[in-house]
Amino acid sequence: MYLVGTQHGKPLRLLSPLLAALAVLLSACEAKQIDSASLHKASDSPPLILSNQAGGAFTISNRSQGSLQAPQPKLSGEQQLAWAVGKSFATQAWVTSPSSTTARDGLGPLFNANSCTGCHVRNGQGELPEKGLGTILRLPTPSPLYGEQLQDMAVSGFKPEGQITWQTINSSHTDAQGNQHQLQRRQFSVDNTAASVSARLAPTLIGMGLLDNISDADILANSDPDDKNHDGISGRANIRSSTQDGTIHIGRFGWKASQSSLHEQIALAFHQDMGISSSLHSPQNCIGDNCQAYSVANTELEISDKLLNAVTNYIANLAVPAAAHDAQSQQGFKIFEQLACAACHTPRFQTRLPSIQLVSTDSAKKSNTATRHTETIFPFSDLLLHDMGAALADQNPTDETPANEWRTAPLWGLGIRARNPDNARLLHDGRARSITEAILWHGGEAEHSKIRFTQLSHQERTTLLYFLKAL
Ligand code: HEC
Ligand code: HEC
Repeated sequence: MYLVGTQHGKPLRLLSPLLAALAVLLSACEAKQIDSASLHKASDSPPLILSNQAGGAFTISNRSQGSLQAPQPKLSGEQQLAWAVGKSFATQAWVTSPSSTTARDGLGPLFNANSCTGCHVRNGQGELPEKGLGTILRLPTPSPLYGEQLQDMAVSGFKPEGQITWQTINSSHTDAQGNQHQLQRRQFSVDNTAASVSARLAPTLIGMGLLDNISDADILANSDPDDKNHDGISGRANIRSSTQDGTIHIGRFGWKASQSSLHEQIALAFHQDMGISSSLHSPQNCIGDNCQAYSVANTELEISDKLLNAVTNYIANLAVPAAAHDAQSQQGFKIFEQLACAACHTPRFQTRLPSIQLVSTDSAKKSNTATRHTETIFPFSDLLLHDMGAALADQNPTDETPANEWRTAPLWGLGIRARNPDNARLLHDGRARSITEAILWHGGEAEHSKIRFTQLSHQERTTLLYFLKAL
């Protein structure tokens, strides 16, 4: 689609230097308020005891696939009813407008899927294109043919922009013990043309409301863009300006951390993935003469603020499945720390903003009356961007972020996602079929960690994987 006249999630470098200076000042002030409980990558911090309460009070003990669809346990009866309204607008199919039978009309004209859970399958990951929905292609610069994202579906009377095509590229990796690992990736394209694209798999929707409530200062505290501590790891915060009010925040959602607010991420998903306009993204999502005619005829917003808030609160209040740690996984965690995996996959954070309530998370943040609330959570990500090397890079920068930089993937729920070896799909384009493959693709700032992983003894590696599967 092509965004006419709006620029969402602008990177800071497009803003005035004055604003940039202000942001730095503000974050420095905020950073002073961080208490000693705040986590840093410094090795002198006391040893961390892992908790199975991965999402703090949002945790439920169920570790089945279905656990991703449950509400967090602290909702009142009334809040559960409101949550269920949000759920219906996220899970049931939207239809073409006008339709007299439903409030869920306004799909398209161009779209990728007709519901959130069409791609985030039962709130879990998306599918690879040969199996179903959930893989999207983003374009390095808005293209006159496809806009920022390829829409491969269209409502009747309109043409999809194109179809996702790919070539499979095999390679192998020999570890220090002489074991060979077969790796596979895909070179994605649109209709087999040479246009460079960035393929993204729909991520699991675990703990989104909690990540939304981590303060910018706590994320910034781990960033080290100039690698001043000389550990070879230089996480960079993705500083963005809000679509809603232009305020500056740290990006944290999406594989490139390009969205700083859950509410904005969801409004963008409605617009780009489903063709549904809202007060945040009002122009119709399409390209060409046909669409101009369509836009003129359809000036009404297709989702109201009230329903958009309901969907945000549904996603924000999903439960987090408990981890399954025991003595062996504590051993595995030590190896994880020794290999410096934890330098990017930050185990613990505290949410510091007002508690997530069943009102828009954004308005809760702004409201002075909202109670302050702290949850200790274990997302295993610093939410920062890292250079992950050439093998994981796209062909060109996308989302105004260098092609080789990716947000550290949160590892909570990893054991649930990687449980079925026939169906595991890890990393931004789902290329890795196992946890081991995902680690072997690490390069750039993570090259050293990867090499140390390949040098582990068989038993050490088993213990590390045992820990990762307990997440
Ligand atoms: C066409 C498939 C598709 C549809 C439909 C879709 N999403 Fe997504 N979603 C994705 C992909 C792919 C990403 C990763 C985007 C990126 O990295 O740029 C994503 C990212 C997200 C994220 C950020 C996750 C994270 O780990 O940071 C949230 C939250 C989200 N989507 C919620 C929704 C909601 C709510 C809806 C319905 C309004 C929705 N999505 C509809 C494919 C989809
Ligand atoms: C320099 C930072 C960095 C280090 C060090 C690092 N990772 Fe990662 N990790 C990332 C990033 C960034 C991604 C996402 C990359 C992508 O999708 O292209 C990722 C992805 C992953 C994934 C896939 C998760 C998913 O949801 O798809 C696993 C598993 C993983 N890392 C485990 C590890 C382990 C184990 C180590 C230590 C041996 C490690 N990582 C070291 C940054 C790092």
